[in-house]
Amino acid sequence: MSTAPSLPAPRAGTPLPDGLAAAASPETAPEVWPLTARTVEGRLHVGGVALHDLADACGTALYVVDEADFRHRARLWRESGADRVHYASKAFLCAEMIRWVDSEGLHLDVCSGGELRLAVDTGFDAARIVFHGNNKSVAELEAAVANGVGVVVVDCLEEIDRLARAAAAADRVQDVYVRIAPGVAAETHDYMATGGDDVKFGFPVRGGHAERAVLAVAARPSLRLTGVHSHIGSQITATDGLTLAAERVAAFVALLAERHAITVEEIDLGGGAGIPYLPGQPRLEPATFTSALRAGLERVLPGSPVRLAVEPGRSMIGTAGVTLYRVGAVKDGLRRRFVSVDGGMSDALRPSLYLARYTAWTANRPARGEPVHAVVVGRHCESGDVVVPDIALPEDVATGDLLAVPATGAYHHAMASNYNAQPRPAVVAVRDGRAHLMVRRETPEDLRRRDAHGEPVRLTTG
Ligand code: LLP
Repeated sequence: MSTAPSLPAPRAGTPLPDGLAAAASPETAPEVWPLTARTVEGRLHVGGVALHDLADACGTALYVVDEADFRHRARLWRESGADRVHYASKAFLCAEMIRWVDSEGLHLDVCSGGELRLAVDTGFDAARIVFHGNNKSVAELEAAVANGVGVVVVDCLEEIDRLARAAAAADRVQDVYVRIAPGVAAETHDYMATGGDDVKFGFPVRGGHAERAVLAVAARPSLRLTGVHSHIGSQITATDGLTLAAERVAAFVALLAERHAITVEEIDLGGGAGIPYLPGQPRLEPATFTSALRAGLERVLPGSPVRLAVEPGRSMIGTAGVTLYRVGAVKDGLRRRFVSVDGGMSDALRPSLYLARYTAWTANRPARGEPVHAVVVGRHCESGDVVVPDIALPEDVATGDLLAVPATGAYHHAMASNYNAQPRPAVVAVRDGRAHLMVRRETPEDLRRRDAHGEPVRLTTG
């Protein structure tokens, strides 16, 4: 007879390793939860709606968006001291979101023909759109011109040529910003730093690249240079880099005036304001972000009438979002408890891509018991399929419970995939006790719709 080896599975009372995220409720860490999140008799509510009711009505995994939180942050940005605020649609976009952005009087930053199309088809005024991208196609540039996009941010010399031709062919003069790389390394994950010397975005100021780009624009009668753009990165919480970037951009604008008598009306310094993901982490508030930029501009161009534009994405929608999962398998490993949920890297890519960290809280009941070292994992066939890396979860979190993960409003739905043929979750907006579907859940039929069953491809040669 063999005896099963007894394994040192995680148990309550066992000392926890350092560095675990604390499980955090809206009461213990309001900074990571949406404005209206509360626990009521041990159950999580957002927007006056009980999340367990939402899970029953819509299924899980489910993205929940607190409309009041978004509108509150939109107002803070409008009042931040920037002259123009573009919502960076890459953080989260759908038709309803575009209507919210519109109703808040914001402008829109798009970075692909797809985002542009969605905005235009939803009825967003194209004149209030700024169009980004480091490799826009001719078709995208033509669509920008044809739809009357307010500003195209040019990012390489070929694009300046292509855009000039598209605008001339349409008999229009297209407003453009030139994106410059100011040589400022933002303090953030390497993948989110975009302002250094060795990045694919923009024209480096060093070496005269940015100056040549401006002269190339100035030489095209179908283009009008209205601004200079820079975005040094994302999830930034320290202001030094922002101020330095603003100084460098301002110095570049001053150089254009001195050397070439070229003036610009606007300086767009991008987005990147960071938010807390874990209890106690800081938020870069809109007014602080904008003041840091203004300080840099003012130092180099005192009293200049140049207008300041910004492009926040995460800071506007990140904290509004919560992802709701149902707990399935719970397994004690040798060192950690694996709490599996009915989603994963297909709806929450950031932990796998950037080793991003999160917290979580049970939504359907008050969890009890001593904390154990747990990791919330997804249902995909990858060891890196982690939703909440190392967290101290109450011991009695069990199969059937609902786990809510806060701070998932930005770059979650936007980066979702169909890995393992997983249909993408629905997105539900909550407000004043009501819930509205923003994006419906994908179905297996949606996934099958693209199967072409070997349909012949017509080749142009041969
Ligand atoms: N403007 C430009 C030109 C950008 O490239 C970005 C972000 C933004 C504005 C908005 O940045 P935000 O305020 O959201 O930080 N997928 C990553 C973030 C990549 C952001 C790319 N560009 C993440 O999950 O953290």
